[in-house]
Order: sequence, then C-alpha cells, then structure tokens
Amino acid sequence: MAEPRISSIDGKLAEEFAVPSHVEEVKEKMAAFASFHAEAGRKVVLITSGGTKVPLESRTVRFLDNFSSGRRGASSAEYFIDSGYAVIFLHRHRSLYPYTRMFLTINMLDALEFQAGGVPGNTGEVVVNQQVLPNIAKVLKRYEEVKESRLLLPIEFNTLSEYLHLLKAAAQALSTIGSKAMFYLAAAVSDFYIPASEMPEHKIQSSNGPLQLSMKMVPKILSPLVKDWAPQAFVISFKLETDASILLDKARRALDTYRHQAVVANVLDSRRGYVVVVTPETQAELILTEEDVKNEVEIEERIVSNLTSAHDNFITQQVA
Ligand code: PMT
Repeated sequence: MAEPRISSIDGKLAEEFAVPSHVEEVKEKMAAFASFHAEAGRKVVLITSGGTKVPLESRTVRFLDNFSSGRRGASSAEYFIDSGYAVIFLHRHRSLYPYTRMFLTINMLDALEFQAGGVPGNTGEVVVNQQVLPNIAKVLKRYEEVKESRLLLPIEFNTLSEYLHLLKAAAQALSTIGSKAMFYLAAAVSDFYIPASEMPEHKIQSSNGPLQLSMKMVPKILSPLVKDWAPQAFVISFKLETDASILLDKARRALDTYRHQAVVANVLDSRRGYVVVVTPETQAELILTEEDVKNEVEIEERIVSNLTSAHDNFITQQVA
C-alpha cells in the first residue's frame, strides 16, 4: 500500500500548534465509534461547532475568540441522529449542546421546586416545575434513547490548536469508513494565530504601552482534509460573511479551491432563517417562512435533509 503523503500543513501543525496530550486517546475512541456504527449499517457525521479561541499568552489571560453560539452545530446533531446517523460532536467547551441547548437560558433553581405538601429543607422532595420546563420529559426521553444507543460522541476543544489537532485525528479515524463519513464543518475557525514560539509566556503588561499584534495566517485545514486525511468522505464547509453581496462568490471559490462536495453559505444576521447550499452543480436556497417560524421549524432541519439526500447520492455514485 502507498505511504500516505505528508503535507506541509502536517509539518506546520506539529511545529506551531501545541499538540493536546489526549489526542491519540481521542482518535482511538473516534475510530472505535466509527467502525461500530458503520458495521451496524449507519453513516457517521463529524460535526464541528462553536468558535475557536486563540491565546495571546501561553499562560493565558487574554485571547481572541471567533463568534459562534454553537446552535447550528447542536441542533444539526439532533436532526442527523433523527435521520439515522451517528454523530461525533467536536465542539467548543460550554457552547450549545444537543438537547440541553433548549434549556440553556433557564436558571436551574427556577426550574426546581419542593413537592407540594412536602417539607422544605434537607429532606424535602425536589421536583421539576412544569411551567418553567414544560417539554423536559419529551427531551429527556429522546436524550436517554440517544445515550443508550451510543449515537452521540462528544469531544471538546477550547483553543485553535486543540481544534486543528482533534479535527485531523477525527479525519484519520473516519477515513476507515470511506464514503459513509460526512464532515459538517460549522465551527467558526480563526484565520489568524500567534505561533507557540512567538507567544509571550506571561501576561502582557499594560505598563509597556499600547499593544501591537502581529498574527500569522492559519493554514486552511480543508485542503489536507479533502486531499490527504479523508479523501473518500463527503465534506461540507460553511461560509460566513457579513456582506451578502460577496457570499455566493466566496462559496463558489471555496468549492473550486478545495474540491469538496458542498458549501453552506450564510450571512451573520440572517443565518437563522436563510442559507444557500452550494454544490459544484447546484444552488439551493433554504428559507424559513413566517409560518415556519410560528411553528418553531428550525432551518437546520432543512439543511440536514438537503445534505443527507446528497450524501446518499454520493455514496451510490462511489459504489457504482
Ligand atoms: O453557531 P451559530 O451561532 O449558530 O452560528 C453558526 C455559524 C454562523 C458559525 C455557522 O453557520 C458558520 O457559518 N460557520 C463557519 C464560520 C467560518 O469559520 O467561516 P469562514 O468563512 O471563516 O470559514 C469557511 C470554512 O473554512 C469553514 O467551514 C471552516 O471550517 C474552514 N476553515 C476555516 C479556517 C481554517 N484555518 N481552515 C478551514 O478549513
């Protein structure tokens, strides 16, 4: 068998981005998860979600963050599971999480109360207040089913370095299941970083005057992912802009450059109700109407439905 080629990005990753100590352990876990589900006839999707953090000091007090609440990734994870996928959820620590995302704005103590007739105090029975959490039983039931069937494997990242190394590990772990693997790269990933060798160790002192930062460009990770790490997988990237007039052009350019299967293009302000799924041959606008919003339809349901069909076609073409 031919040796896998070492891209220059592999070298850069090893030299300039601190390798998390648990990366090999996580890789084995992901590989076992992927082969277990593929043998059971399931497809596996790796979802990235949340924003990466770029530290300015190695004993970090300050950092730059990319904006993402994690809602896109967390809700998509639920729809992929409902569509029969097993999900590896590579997410920023404390960003929105599947199922619990619905209750994040609720203060836990407001959701609990002493049982009527019980004696408040150490021995009083505590129950859920049904007015504060009316849907908890339904969501809890689904969450337990998913846990029981081991359909969700959560992996956390904080920094850009952790994200990059864990994504590479995930790609290598999923390469064993070929076209049954999908990559759904919804995380907001920094384009700039300070190499480990140039980072001050201690807190930057304001007594030294105004801070001038010089940051390097982060290598585009889509390139080795598609070419080297998981060449048979179905890969979807996201394109986020704040200027709608350049969005589709940038999405097309990404497809031309990286030669992956689809880009989900969205504008920051309208991302909850409008996205365009761009492939080399097609362009599908997905829009929520006022009626949809009233009925609490989420755009991720439409995105996932569009992409799971495209993934099925992709698998059929690979086999034929
Ligand atoms: O989390 P929410 O609040 O719900 O918001 C969802 C979202 C707006 C964050 C999401 O829909 C989205 O658009 N995510 C991608 C944001 C982003 O990083 O876009 P970009 O244009 O900077 O990058 C484009 C693609 O290149 C991304 O898929 C990214 O994974 C990839 N990339 C980025 C940097 C890098 N060094 N290498 C990469 O491969």
